[in-house]
Amino acid sequence: MKNKIIIANWKMNKNLNQAEKFVKNLAKEISKSEYKIVICPDFTSMYSLNKYSSEYNFEVGSQNCFWEEKGAFTGEVSALMLKNAGVKYVILGHSERRKYFSESNEIINKKIKICLENDLIPIVCVGEDINLRQLNQELLFVNRQILECLEGISNENIKKIIVAYEPLWSIGTGKTISLLQAEEMVLNIRDFISKKYDKSLKNEIKVLYGGSVNPENSKNFLSLDSLSGLLIGGASLDEQKFSKIIKN
Ligand code: PGA
Repeated sequence: MKNKIIIANWKMNKNLNQAEKFVKNLAKEISKSEYKIVICPDFTSMYSLNKYSSEYNFEVGSQNCFWEEKGAFTGEVSALMLKNAGVKYVILGHSERRKYFSESNEIINKKIKICLENDLIPIVCVGEDINLRQLNQELLFVNRQILECLEGISNENIKKIIVAYEPLWSIGTGKTISLLQAEEMVLNIRDFISKKYDKSLKNEIKVLYGGSVNPENSKNFLSLDSLSGLLIGGASLDEQKFSKIIKN
């Protein structure tokens, strides 16, 4: 059983050919990795990448989805469509979606619900900006995000959700959080969710860290018992860097 999970968030990078080439070149490393690997490419590459997923032993994730089942929503992609294309995970509430597309906790909550209805695993991103961190408000802020994003989700479904803690000041900046700070937040998230929902969930909840993860720091993060894995942007685009991380 592969315990820790490594999720590649390719954002708006790599076209179909590049995406296929990447997984083919890393087929050996991916299939032998001790980690569960999830690759989240752009919408146009998902279906094709999924054709390699069982052979190479990885899963395909999406970077977003819409909250309605179907209808006149030009430009949107539904959870069911993703499921039909072989997608298993959906990143929701990434800080770039919150910033550029004004996604609120309420919108993210609707998206989480539709994903769960379609057996897709939501990866819910939370995290504070630098001002909040400097004011020591990060725990309060993240707990509020979690509370609002998970509003109305049943105990049974809470177990299926993955929370990704990504401090905004660390995303794509090269600035990483200390292990101590990461652990404090991860334990806080576990405590907060289990107190709110069900105390027995404390060790079952999956909490990832994301933000400037690279081959040098990934091993330290992955050594934290409380951390379920990593969500990786920039370093997941580079074959050498990603291969080093998943071989750690
Ligand atoms: P980064 O991005 O690894 O490039 O900091 C992480 C993310 O945005 O998920």
